[in-house]
Amino acid sequence: MLHTRLLTAAAFVALCLGATAAKADITLNNTVTGEPLNLDDAPPEGKDSEAFKQFMQSGKNPYVGKQDCFAKGEELFNGACSGCHGHLAEGKIGPGLNDDYWTYPGNATDKGMFETVFGGASGQMGPMYNSVNVQEMLLAMAWIRHLYVGDPDKAEWLEADARKSLKKYDNKPAPKPGPDAPQECKMGG
Ligand code: HEC
Repeated sequence: MLHTRLLTAAAFVALCLGATAAKADITLNNTVTGEPLNLDDAPPEGKDSEAFKQFMQSGKNPYVGKQDCFAKGEELFNGACSGCHGHLAEGKIGPGLNDDYWTYPGNATDKGMFETVFGGASGQMGPMYNSVNVQEMLLAMAWIRHLYVGDPDKAEWLEADARKSLKKYDNKPAPKPGPDAPQECKMGG
């Protein structure tokens, strides 16, 4: 009897551990120094989100191309990034993020851009985790990809097939999130 109860307790603990442990399959490094990034530097918000967990496993931003989340991404980008990078990410005191020239070529991948946003680069580009949480970083990054007007062949964050059908940003405002939009992409809430 005691034996079964112990086993049950052990199974329960194992379940809990499995559910909370961040199963990271990718490693993140500072864009400039290459030092490992410490996710604990950021507040906990957003780390439990499905999107961030997926990103930590695949290195792919699951919000890229998700129309329902563009409006949220735009709002976050305008709040935290556009003051320096311009409203269309065309560049201001920070470089343009809507073309295919990168100071740090890794920014053409989701993992590379996350590393820059989380850990910062040089000068005015500091770590952004006090302005946007890790999930919000992914949302803002997806909007930046949507603003792209560079060469589709250089859109490294997409699979080769998707690059062929990539449309340059058409200056249309982000569509309103539909009724099935993920909770975090609904506006005003
Ligand atoms: C206070 C101004 C400022 C803010 C706010 C800011 N940036 Fe930057 N950003 C810069 C500057 C300046 C650079 C150039 C840094 C360098 O070359 O090392 C830069 C560089 C970058 C790069 C690398 C570009 C390249 O060509 O490789 C990315 C990506 C980037 N920023 C994304 C963001 C995102 C996303 C946000 C908002 C979450 C943001 N930045 C907020 C000023 C800013």
